[in-house]
Amino acid sequence: MSRTVVLVDAVRTPFGKAGSMYSGTRADDLMVRAMRGLLERNPKVNPGDIEDVAIAAATQTGDQGMNLGRSASLLAGLPNTVPGYSVDRWCAGALTATTSLAGAIAIGSIDIAIAGGVEHMGNHPIGDGLDPNPRFLAERIVEQDALAMGATAERLHDRFPQLTKERADRYAYNSQMKTAAAYAAGKIQRDLIPTAARIPEMGWGIATVDEPPRPTTTMEGLSTLKTPFRAAGRVTPGNSSGLNDGATAALLASEDKAKELGLTIKAKLVSYAFAGVEPEVMGFGPVPSTIKALAKAGLKISDIGAFEVNEAFAVQVIAFLDHFGIADDDPRVNPYGGAIAVGHPLASSGIRLMLNLARSFEEHTDVRYGLTTMCIGLGMGGTVIWENPHFTGGSK
Ligand SMILES: CC(C)(COP(=O)(O)OP(=O)(O)OC[C@H]1O[C@@H](n2cnc3c(N)ncnc32)[C@H](O)[C@@H]1OP(=O)(O)O)[C@@H](O)C(=O)NCCC(=O)NCCS
Repeated sequence: MSRTVVLVDAVRTPFGKAGSMYSGTRADDLMVRAMRGLLERNPKVNPGDIEDVAIAAATQTGDQGMNLGRSASLLAGLPNTVPGYSVDRWCAGALTATTSLAGAIAIGSIDIAIAGGVEHMGNHPIGDGLDPNPRFLAERIVEQDALAMGATAERLHDRFPQLTKERADRYAYNSQMKTAAAYAAGKIQRDLIPTAARIPEMGWGIATVDEPPRPTTTMEGLSTLKTPFRAAGRVTPGNSSGLNDGATAALLASEDKAKELGLTIKAKLVSYAFAGVEPEVMGFGPVPSTIKALAKAGLKISDIGAFEVNEAFAVQVIAFLDHFGIADDDPRVNPYGGAIAVGHPLASSGIRLMLNLARSFEEHTDVRYGLTTMCIGLGMGGTVIWENPHFTGGSK
């Protein structure tokens, strides 16, 4: 049995700089806000009809512990009859929450579900509390660089010398400019749920926009930044995603259920795949996962008319684009900018890609297929291919 799975809607909190506007806000409260915002936007969904909730976080302790799927559901006011679980595939947490629930919907176990992801990198700095098995290094299962994401990005520059720092900086600059243009046109704010922000010294406020974007970025400014991951390296704070706090949530359903309830259908899931690569070049992961997902869908890369590629690092995005012969500034790719500008609260980002793709689908009814893809720590990639429900025929 296989049924069509649809993205009904997706939202997110504004993203903050780690430990800044959300320094006094709990991670689980960010998650709850995203879930409540999602349900408020979709009043035709009776919360009691949600059949499962899967919430991701890369660090699952403290305010991201306690099985977020269950605890955030109860805190969000879902009836206690709605079950929930937590998911971890590092940066692809929300992507995996989506694909896991989609699998359950496709085989008919459930009809309607919420996927989400949160990361409060202020409360949970990358690597905090980790205890990598000494065998990793002692037995050279991985090299030291594999354990530091910025170092894996430097390795991509080493492996593909045509991916110069200048190209990475140019890509990053464009991401900032595209985000600024999307903000100016009101294209980002519409999917942000106003969220209580608290800085202990300053008190409460309401966040309505992302904090990280730097619209005044220049190529000259980017060229002078330090390279924190390697002396005289090429990866800088300007061409990397930052350290951020935020949450995302998505409503998924079987196509039949969405139609029965009269829900919006923003995208139809076509196929998905995860794949592994050498952990030292983790940023290359989206290449094999995309090849796999395309094969499963019976599609070619030229069939894809809209791309949402997570920008963990600029070099990793251009490695992906280079592989498929797509220009660094191809207008089909991340038209509203990406994580370099708006931030990358690790496990939450997969759903940010989906909500952007859904907006691109609305804008481009000549586009039939789009994809969301991201690299994942310790050498993986994940890709989901989606079909545009607004497709009216045309070139792609
Ligand atoms: C790269 C990284 C180490 C930088 O951290 P940071 O030092 O907190 O970054 P900041 O935002 O303070 O930026 C550092 C400097 O660069 C400057 N800078 C950053 N972006 C800039 C831009 N677009 N233009 C000009 N200057 C910029 C900042 O102003 C700051 O300057 P200052 O030191 O004079 O104040 C951190 O963001 C990081 O680890 N990113 C990767 C996260 C990651 O691995 N995610 C998982 C992916 S798989």
